[in-house]
Amino acid sequence: MCGIVGYTGINNATPILLEGLDTLAYRGYDSAGIAVWDGENIVMKKEKGQLSNLKAILEREPVTGCCGIGHTRWATHGEPSYINSHPHGDAKKQLVLVHNGIIENYVRIKSMLMDRGCVFVSDTDTEVVAQLLGDVYNGDPIKAIVEAMKLIEGSFALAILFRDDPHRIYCVCKDSPMVVGFGRDGAHIASDIPAMLSYTRDVTFMGDKQIAVLSPDGIAFYNEFGTPIDKGCSHIDWDLDAAKKGSYEHFMMKEICEEPVAFRKTAEQYVSFREPRLKADCFPWDADNCAELKRIRIIGCGTAYHAGLLGKKYFTELAKIPVEAEIASEFRYSGYTFEEGEALLLVSQSGETADTIAALRMAKQAGVRTIAVCNVIGSTIAREADEVLFTYAGPEIAVAATKSYLTQITVLFLAALRLGEIRGTISGERVKALLSELTSIPEHMQKLIDDREAIQYFASREFSAKHVFFIGRGIDNALSMEAALKLKEVSYIHSDAYAAGELKHGTIALIEEGTLVVGLITQRHLASKTASNLEEVRVRGATVLALTNGSMPDIAGHCNKVWELDEMNELTAPFCAIIPMQLFAYYMAVQKGCNVDKPRNLAKSVTVE
Ligand code: M6R
Repeated sequence: MCGIVGYTGINNATPILLEGLDTLAYRGYDSAGIAVWDGENIVMKKEKGQLSNLKAILEREPVTGCCGIGHTRWATHGEPSYINSHPHGDAKKQLVLVHNGIIENYVRIKSMLMDRGCVFVSDTDTEVVAQLLGDVYNGDPIKAIVEAMKLIEGSFALAILFRDDPHRIYCVCKDSPMVVGFGRDGAHIASDIPAMLSYTRDVTFMGDKQIAVLSPDGIAFYNEFGTPIDKGCSHIDWDLDAAKKGSYEHFMMKEICEEPVAFRKTAEQYVSFREPRLKADCFPWDADNCAELKRIRIIGCGTAYHAGLLGKKYFTELAKIPVEAEIASEFRYSGYTFEEGEALLLVSQSGETADTIAALRMAKQAGVRTIAVCNVIGSTIAREADEVLFTYAGPEIAVAATKSYLTQITVLFLAALRLGEIRGTISGERVKALLSELTSIPEHMQKLIDDREAIQYFASREFSAKHVFFIGRGIDNALSMEAALKLKEVSYIHSDAYAAGELKHGTIALIEEGTLVVGLITQRHLASKTASNLEEVRVRGATVLALTNGSMPDIAGHCNKVWELDEMNELTAPFCAIIPMQLFAYYMAVQKGCNVDKPRNLAKSVTVE
């Protein structure tokens, strides 16, 4: 939530800040603002709404200077408005700052400051931090930050400009991501790596309560007590173009089209295809630890949770181990007591999702081993988990997760296969057969992408649907949940997933003339069961679309439309089956004129509860 950028160096900061905010716009788009030192003053410009509104203002009233900070907001406290937009300053005009996170005790601090005569102009928790810093500031920025940090509770990433020291940016964070890097022409700060990729690939991830001071000639780090510390940096080898839209109209479409490559890159990290065999780091435990493992609990939010649901099927089937998949925000307050021999597997694209981090920390505190499936090197989850199985999706910019889901389920499949291999629950022959299947998956995917016009055509006829239901059994039920989320988040059409067998227990009452029901049928042994459910909704007036694994002539009679995948193994079919569902969501949203990459009310990275 919220994107922060900052630059100090020898160039004009404004275009650098705007470019960074453009890249980070997926983190929030309720308002945008910058503050730049113009040589005499810190000049602030901000505006409600998308970044383009701010750009328009800056065209009319340009701001030039070599040090500045910027912000794109996802509103938490205070409605999206000019007055609540960042940056915020203190009453004495000593500093301005931008903030990502939530200050949980802001009401208490605000009333303390108001008792001292401080006048607030916005409804935000952020202004409380600015006023607090202004209150404790006596000419030493580090000291003021250390003092303020003792009082504030919650999560924060702050970039601060002090009027007395206008060429430096002071940054601090807790439970909220912040990356700093030094490029050829100065120092950069951002909430996420892609915003600084065009300037540097050597970045440092800030740890909790660490302070960074960016100046035109370097970056200094301090701990929470203000003592200087050394920090190393990580090299990021993401392709710069990967974070750019190129000739695509939307990032979402670009990222769907990247799925065959993302799949191949991820699979190749864990599989040696020549033999074929699984590499050892696919499930990074030795045989004794694997034998002692009694249960796996998979945790994630949204799409990552849906990947976990599919992971549960994989681990159950291949490694014959009890698995639960849980939503992180529920799990963290469930009062759960970990059991001996249990492992927590956390799934997160960003590695910064607040609830998933909380679950990870609970497990670590209980001494439970943790494994993360994560896309971002250096992110909090990647740093704090005992082991990390990285996905190689590259940067995902569209708010709707597409290639990250695909690579998450790929890693979960391979990890389950490896665990099964070590525990002896799957034969070497079956492992080989399944691995051989993977080699042709990118081709099958490509075919689906190349043939996407058929999906576009279907969407052009159905986009006025008010309700869409996705049904399936087993693996297809897990896939349906992701298909339904994709559709609702980008097209705002009400969509839900139901276990096909559950329809008759209540949900079928919702079916009326023209309701669209999508049946996912990748598991051939369950096809006839789901077909009966499709028939039940069809005779009640539903328009029925089925997605089948290869040709299933018996299904066609129950449907208005069938989309056929190339026939493939039931366990690997989800890698392909999700693509038409993502394309369908995309085209429905485009037809409706929705903002596909930045759906209303959403942000890519949910770093607050
Ligand atoms: O970064 P994470 O994978 O931890 O994010 C979790 C969810 O917020 C995320 O998967 C979200 O549901 C998707 N962006 C929706 O498409």
